[in-house]
Amino acid sequence: MPVTVRSFAKINLGLCIGPARPDGFHELRTVYQTIGLNDLITVRVAKGAGIEIRSADPRVPTDSGNTCYRAVERAMEALGARGRVTIEIEKRLPVQGGLGGASANAVAALLALEKVLRKRLSQAERLRIAAEVGSDLPCFLVGGTALGVGRGEVVFPLEDLPTMPCVIATPVIGVSTPRAFADWDELMARAERASERSTGGDARTYASSGKLTVVTPSDRIKRFGHVLSAWLSDASGASARGGSRAESLLLDLVRTGIENDFERVVFPQYPELRDIKGVLERAGALYASLSGSGSALYGLFRTRDAAKRAVAKLKEAGVPAQVTSTLTRAQYWKKTFN
Ligand code: C5P
Repeated sequence: MPVTVRSFAKINLGLCIGPARPDGFHELRTVYQTIGLNDLITVRVAKGAGIEIRSADPRVPTDSGNTCYRAVERAMEALGARGRVTIEIEKRLPVQGGLGGASANAVAALLALEKVLRKRLSQAERLRIAAEVGSDLPCFLVGGTALGVGRGEVVFPLEDLPTMPCVIATPVIGVSTPRAFADWDELMARAERASERSTGGDARTYASSGKLTVVTPSDRIKRFGHVLSAWLSDASGASARGGSRAESLLLDLVRTGIENDFERVVFPQYPELRDIKGVLERAGALYASLSGSGSALYGLFRTRDAAKRAVAKLKEAGVPAQVTSTLTRAQYWKKTFN
C-alpha cells in the first residue's frame, strides 16, 4: 500500500554563522520554525530493486542527487529491506531556497518508507541518516521550534512559539548557499583586517564603523549562544508580561537582536530582497527576515488580516507571496500523517 505524508517547510528565526571548520562546513546557530506550507510525498515499495523518483515538476531532480533518493537509499540499508521504491513528489512549496523544501521532502520520504515497510528506525538512526544527507534535514525530525547547532544538523526541541500568521515571499531569485557562505567568510576576513588596522593588530577587540561589533566568528557565535540562552531562560515568563504569548515570546527574541547573518551578504547582492523585507516591515510584521540563505523571506504578523494585507502589497509589487502560519510540534506531527 502506498503511503502519502505531508512535507512541511521551515523558516529560520535568526541565523548566526560561525567559523569555517576543517570539514569545509561552518559552525552555525539558528532557531528553526516549521510552517504550514507543504509538499506531498508518496512512497510505494514493490518487488525488485532500485529507487525511482517521479515528479510532474521539471525542477525536481529524479536521479541519485535527489535528497529523497539519498535518504531512502540509506534507510533501506539500515532497515535491511529489499524492494523497488518509488517516491512521488508533488511540489506545492515554492522551490525558492531558504524554506528547506528538498530537505523536508527527504525526511518525509524516510517517514513514509517506514510506514510502507511497517519497520521503524530508531530516532538516533533517523537523525544520523538525515544529517548525512544535509544540514537542514534533522530539524524536520523534530518539528515546531527547534534549536540548530553544529553545522545546523544537531537539533534540540525548544518550547514551541505558539502559532502565528506568517507571510512567505518567494521572489524568483536563486541564491547559492555555498557562495553565500564564501561571501560571508570574505566579509569576516575584511572586517578582521580592518579591525587589525584600527587597533594596531589586536583583531580580537571590537571596532567597526563606530559601532561595537564582535569581530571574530567564534566571538560572534558565543554571543549568539548567550543571547539565545538568555531568551530561553526568560521565555517561561513571557506570557506574564501582557500581549499574546506568541507575541511576547517573539518580541523578546527580536529584542535580543537576533538576526540572519546571510542578509549581510545576500542583500547587497540582491537589493530587491532588502526591499521585500521593507514591505513586510511597513505592512506591520512583528518580525521580518530572510530565511536561510534565501531567496525566500518571511514576516510574522499579529493577525491573519494583517498578513493578507501584506501579501496584497507584495503582489502589487510583483512578488509572489502567500499567507500561512507557524506550526507547533504537535500540529506538525499530526498534520504530517493526516
Ligand atoms: O549540508 P548542506 O547540503 O545543506 O550544505 C550545502 C553547502 O552549504 C555545503 O556544501 C557547504 O558548502 C555549505 N554549508 C556550510 N556550513 C553549514 C551548512 C552548509 O558551509 N553549516
